[in-house]
Amino acid sequence: MPVIRAPRGTRDRLPEEAAAWARAEAVAADLASRYGFERIETPLFETTELFVRGLGEGSDAVAKEMFRVGGAAGSEEEEPAWALRPEPTAGIVRAYLEHGLHVRPGPLRVWMLGPMFRYDRPQAGRYRQFTQWDVEVIGDPGPAVDAELIELASRFCTQVGLDDASIHLNSIGDAACRPAYRAALTAYFAPHRNALSEDGRRRLDTNPLRMLDDRTLDSGLAAAAPKSIDHLCDACRDHFAGVSGLLDRLGIVYELDHRLVRGLDYYTRTTFELFPPGRTGSQDALAGGGRYDGLVEVLGGPSTAGVGFGLGLDRVVLAMAQRGAPGEPSPALVAVVGTQPSDVAERLLVAGALREAGLRVRPDGSDRKLGRQLEAAAKLGARWAVIVGEELTRGAVVLRDLADGSQREIALDEVSSATRRNADS
Ligand code: HAM
Repeated sequence: MPVIRAPRGTRDRLPEEAAAWARAEAVAADLASRYGFERIETPLFETTELFVRGLGEGSDAVAKEMFRVGGAAGSEEEEPAWALRPEPTAGIVRAYLEHGLHVRPGPLRVWMLGPMFRYDRPQAGRYRQFTQWDVEVIGDPGPAVDAELIELASRFCTQVGLDDASIHLNSIGDAACRPAYRAALTAYFAPHRNALSEDGRRRLDTNPLRMLDDRTLDSGLAAAAPKSIDHLCDACRDHFAGVSGLLDRLGIVYELDHRLVRGLDYYTRTTFELFPPGRTGSQDALAGGGRYDGLVEVLGGPSTAGVGFGLGLDRVVLAMAQRGAPGEPSPALVAVVGTQPSDVAERLLVAGALREAGLRVRPDGSDRKLGRQLEAAAKLGARWAVIVGEELTRGAVVLRDLADGSQREIALDEVSSATRRNADS
């Protein structure tokens, strides 16, 4: 029989990667809590209309990469117009409106961690299913929260061992000033139309801002293109000065990046991305985000400010592995072995008692000789072996240190403290 393989663009998270994932997820959850965010979960699929309206019909995520979902085979229902979520922000804003979260006092601060789906061409760091840590603040228009979120994303990178991530920052204006900027870009690129790629020409016609993040664009042409920060209205200019001034005060180093326009249509004003060292293209970003002050209204709610970011955990874990950054340490493993082939039940009972005491335990359920069981325990990476033998009649076992081979009899209820006391030895 041929072996069945995983779908293209998906990754199995094998046990070897578990410690790095655990570290990234633990740091995300801990920081979110310490920054005053609450967890939210939305469905993995939503109506296609949500993404079309929220992210924009012309965005790559909708136009090219939407993972559509049908109903059950043979179902009588009309084909439902659903799609796997390409990103979480639209779903969170939908939930915000659907559950009346906007009538709660104060801005809503929420976070989410889970898989997203984009039917993109798979390559290194770009998958069809990937995991994001997402952080959103809805209802806070001031520049302080933009700076706070950029600082949070940067702190996350530092805490997982990627302390040299670089921050790129831009402002792409709002409904008041962007039309004139779009017109300036169109006028600038139009004479070069024939030199553009097919994708470039499409971008020029549908969303000239996206010309700037077309990596096939001639770098000289891109560098001399009109810059959005030179076309901001007074309100956007003040906001941007507020964000950059606060980042300076916080000692956060960033780079102004005129080509940072983001791929989803909902962005206004602040846009930012974080990159691992030596990388600058959106395809390599560890995180991306910005302000979306028009999105709540586009999805049927009152005019409400919003800002957030998504951090790609698959890319973070890959970067951690390349860097040799440590994962989440797991407690020392204790193997439970027995002197008699027939004492398997006793080993399971002892394993249960040790787990109850908080230890990480793997009992040997085989009928092989003690020596073989000990060899297997060492191969598994166990730090300790608890040997079950005739001492059990007096509530004791033999505790063997697999690092140096020393062993001693010990009361069963002292194993936990003895192994923890020596955990670092
Ligand atoms: P995004 O830039 O599309 O923004 O995605 C955020 C991050 O998710 C990227 O920087 C990258 O690390 C990761 N990512 C995106 N696509 C893939 C992929 N195909 N494979 C692996 N990783 C990927 C958003 O999704 C916005 N919702 C962020 C946001 C939140 N803006 C405001 N609030």
